[in-house]
Amino acid sequence: MRLKTLHTFLIGLTLAALIHPVANSQTPATVDADIDLRALLAKPGDVVRGKKAFSSCEGCHRKNASGRSDGSIPRLTGQHSSVIIKQVLDIRADRRNNPSMQPVVVDTAFTMTHLTDIAAYLQALPFEGSIGKGPGKDLTLGKLLYERDCASCHGASGEGDAAKFNPMVAAQHYRYLLREVIAIRDGSRGNSNAEMVKVVKPYNPAEIDAVSDYMSHMAPPRP
Ligand code: HEC
Ligand code: HEC
Repeated sequence: MRLKTLHTFLIGLTLAALIHPVANSQTPATVDADIDLRALLAKPGDVVRGKKAFSSCEGCHRKNASGRSDGSIPRLTGQHSSVIIKQVLDIRADRRNNPSMQPVVVDTAFTMTHLTDIAAYLQALPFEGSIGKGPGKDLTLGKLLYERDCASCHGASGEGDAAKFNPMVAAQHYRYLLREVIAIRDGSRGNSNAEMVKVVKPYNPAEIDAVSDYMSHMAPPRP
């Protein structure tokens, strides 16, 4: 493990332990990586129970799920419940790299009912707070790239596509988007859609910056 990775990992463990004291002691050695995603999606989530269960997440994602504009934590407000469920299962099974959050979602205290409830709660959560927007240096280039290479999956207004598990990218922090696009290009995110990797791979740093900047200027699609 590289020193930086180790460092991030240790910070993550410490954070998780502070927020969720049982996380480390009860972490099972293996998790069921083959949970049937479609079956979970068919289960209706309960918004009221979801709000309560979200208390194990809000230490990092913040009370109104607004994340952090420094890019360390994504905004989850209004994200498609299908995307929330898929991403959490991927993180849980180590398909998506997220050492700081993983201990919380592999904990035996975290159930699939918690997950479907939290996903329903987040999807319905109104937009609050502000978005960390990019500097707006080259939005013309950003728009051109987005419309050519990204809109077919993430939608013309960044609304995503719930049925295809394509995340909403509107109303997301610039620094998070930038970090993810770089991770997608470099393969360090873990679970990036292969078709997307193909389009992002040849991007130079200015193009990555422009497209991330453009996405961060997209308004939240749901009021
Ligand atoms: C220790 C801090 C921490 C805790 C606690 C935490 N998360 Fe996260 N979460 C993160 C970080 C950091 C990321 C972004 C990882 C990355 O950069 O790829 C993330 C990403 C996510 C994503 C992916 C969002 C996206 O746009 O792809 C979802 C969904 C998510 N978290 C849900 C949850 C839920 C639900 C809980 C509670 C059960 C939770 N998180 C608890 C730190 C945390
Ligand atoms: C073929 C469909 C497809 C295309 C084209 C595509 N994406 Fe994606 N994108 C996805 C999927 C699916 C995910 C979720 C990751 C996963 O589970 O594979 C994702 C995730 C992301 C994320 C992370 C969002 C989050 O909340 O963590 C960003 C940022 C992103 N894409 C940006 C882009 C950009 C920029 C382009 C164009 C240059 C693009 N994508 C093209 C399907 C696509």
